[in-house]
Amino acid sequence: MLDKSLLPTITDEDLRIHPLERSETIPSSWYSDHRFHELDNDVIFAQSWQYIGHLSQVQNPGDQCMGSVAGNPIIVVRGQDNKLRAFYNVCRHRGAPLAVVEGGKSKVLQCKYHGWTYLLDGSLRGTPKFNRVDLFDRKDYGLVSTHLDTWEGLVFVNLEGDGLSSSTLFKGIIDRIAPMTIADKKFYRRVTYDLNCNWKVFVDNYLEGYHLPYVHPELCTLLDFQSYATETFEYHSLQSSSLSQNESKYGANHGQVFYYFVWPNFMMNILPGRLQTNLVVPTSHNHCMVIFDYYYDDTSSEGTLKMIDEDIRYSDKVQQEDIEICEQVQKGLESRAYDRGRFSVECESGVYHFQSLLKKAYRSALLK
Ligand code: FES
Ligand SMILES: [Fe+2]
Repeated sequence: MLDKSLLPTITDEDLRIHPLERSETIPSSWYSDHRFHELDNDVIFAQSWQYIGHLSQVQNPGDQCMGSVAGNPIIVVRGQDNKLRAFYNVCRHRGAPLAVVEGGKSKVLQCKYHGWTYLLDGSLRGTPKFNRVDLFDRKDYGLVSTHLDTWEGLVFVNLEGDGLSSSTLFKGIIDRIAPMTIADKKFYRRVTYDLNCNWKVFVDNYLEGYHLPYVHPELCTLLDFQSYATETFEYHSLQSSSLSQNESKYGANHGQVFYYFVWPNFMMNILPGRLQTNLVVPTSHNHCMVIFDYYYDDTSSEGTLKMIDEDIRYSDKVQQEDIEICEQVQKGLESRAYDRGRFSVECESGVYHFQSLLKKAYRSALLK
């Protein structure tokens, strides 16, 4: 339950959605007031599907992957019955974790603190030196589970589970990107970045190509910038572009790139032969972590590995350019000079769409 007395001030006018042409951007306090961190965790991240990883990481009984959702440690594990389950990675004794390293595999989940042991279905089995404890039944101390869903091989969890279905969130994407696909991509590498900015700064920045000529001049030459377009759908938006005629960095000198944003903090960058996912994880009001997962059609042949190395190196360069501008923007948003700005109708409909969804989420939480 939301403790409204702890909430930052949000006026009715702040939540009103005006047409793009007349709209202002959201107030700067939404990026800089520390109380929004908790609000966002409660009303956005705990109530939406959050990306954790890929099915190939949890293929066999005992395979595990981990994540953090709204500040909660989460573990996803494949059971002996082959069923995939998600739990809070929190022991029911005194709160220690069951898994601490990514990519673990074990027959049971054993707490790292005093050795309580859980089966892979979450039931508590072993409790060392616990014989003389009264009114204690192991059945009451199983791991706390959470909702899990998969889409095209990607694994998501939802703490509250009463939100949108994944089919609503991703509606139409598979048809749109055909003949490119997502489900058959192979996981290659995870790269994590720390940013000194609010998570919304990174999402806003992702959602427009307006900054490309100024922040990423080289990237501009790889894309046919004239064809760059933004479309918005119910819970996702798409920026797409053709690759330049003579572009060969991506191993294809033709074809489309699709930059998908899926509410509230997930991105899929789809290029010929490649899927890159970005997950934006807020860690405080002015800090976030961005997790890049790289997937490819082929991760084995020598020629492709060269292309992959170059792809990851180049993505890192673009990301460093984005980090620099996002951290500077955070400072500007925190300054006395700034409260709200305006949108380019031509280039910032994606940002406007995201900020409108944000307003809707706040409104529905505050009205509860
Ligand atoms: S906290 Fe897990 S066994 Fe003590
Ligand atoms: Fe950028």
